[in-house]
Amino acid sequence: MSTGPDIRRVGVAGGGLMGAGIAEVCARAGCDVRVVVTTDRSRDASRARLERSLDASVARGKLGVDERNAVLSRVSFGTELNEFADRQLVFETVTEDEGTKVKLLRQLDGILPDSDVVFATNTSSLPVTRLAAATAHPGRVVGTHFFNPVPAMPLVEVTGGPETDARTVERTEAFVTRVLGKEAIRSADRAGFVVNALLVPYLLSAVRMAESGHASAEDIDKGMTLGCGHPMGPLRLADLVGIDTLRAVARGLYEESGDPAYSPPEILTRMVEAGRCGQKSGRGFHSYSQQHQ
Ligand code: CAA
Repeated sequence: MSTGPDIRRVGVAGGGLMGAGIAEVCARAGCDVRVVVTTDRSRDASRARLERSLDASVARGKLGVDERNAVLSRVSFGTELNEFADRQLVFETVTEDEGTKVKLLRQLDGILPDSDVVFATNTSSLPVTRLAAATAHPGRVVGTHFFNPVPAMPLVEVTGGPETDARTVERTEAFVTRVLGKEAIRSADRAGFVVNALLVPYLLSAVRMAESGHASAEDIDKGMTLGCGHPMGPLRLADLVGIDTLRAVARGLYEESGDPAYSPPEILTRMVEAGRCGQKSGRGFHSYSQQHQ
């Protein structure tokens, strides 16, 4: 069995904001990364997302052009899950929907029967225990919650359910800290783990404040950046997370906990229906130029 630091062949299922970010940090750490998405279109979008992020790092002077090209050469993109057959660790980063995640994990079971391969689910609101229980080897399923933007945020929450092998948690934590250079915190398998349990009610309070006309989006954000020293205000952060993702996460937490603090305000649904999904779609509570998407 490989230890965490020995893991070098990584799979990423899903190439959205989180998937592309996780692929980037793994490739920057020297891993061979295979990203699998469902359509040719999302494959192209995912590759473009990774290229944009690397180019931004080059423009900031954080990455040389040769290194950028080397990172890109370590990432391959495909549309068939069986391209994961030789992977040692697979991150599942598909949409925050239990049925979708369970279906994917079961498909991965068929492709990776060796119970030594770690399945890491990047959920931020679904219980790892339930996702693991739906698979053939619950002992190898672990939660790894990365934060957006993945290359910039140093934290990963690592969560094992009651059926997760202690060794799986240790290997995963060793991988994210020693290979990726992130900081890890462990959380029990509780709704929202540590960070979202605290963050989501705060973001939703800001959404309700804007919706009720208590203050403008600009002033709410200004209040929290200048008044409390946060790097960005809650509505800009909601835009960064994605309005659709925030709504899905809040729904999951509300269903799990029954706590009204997590109940997503209707305005989030209207924004999603209008295509205002935040920074990635150009508009949310604020507007964004294409270079930020
Ligand atoms: N990729 C790589 N590095 C990046 C980056 C990116 N996309 N964006 C910023 N950085 C790096 C910069 O290179 C810079 O690094 P140095 O300090 O080493 O020079 C640093 O981050 C600061 O960047 P900037 O000065 O350009 O910009 P900034 O000061 O406005 O910081 C930010 C940008 C890091 C995004 C900052 O605004 C921030 O920390 N915001 C809060 C983000 C946050 O809270 N994320 C969590 C979201 S919740 C979530 O993801 C979980 C969930 O399930 C909902």
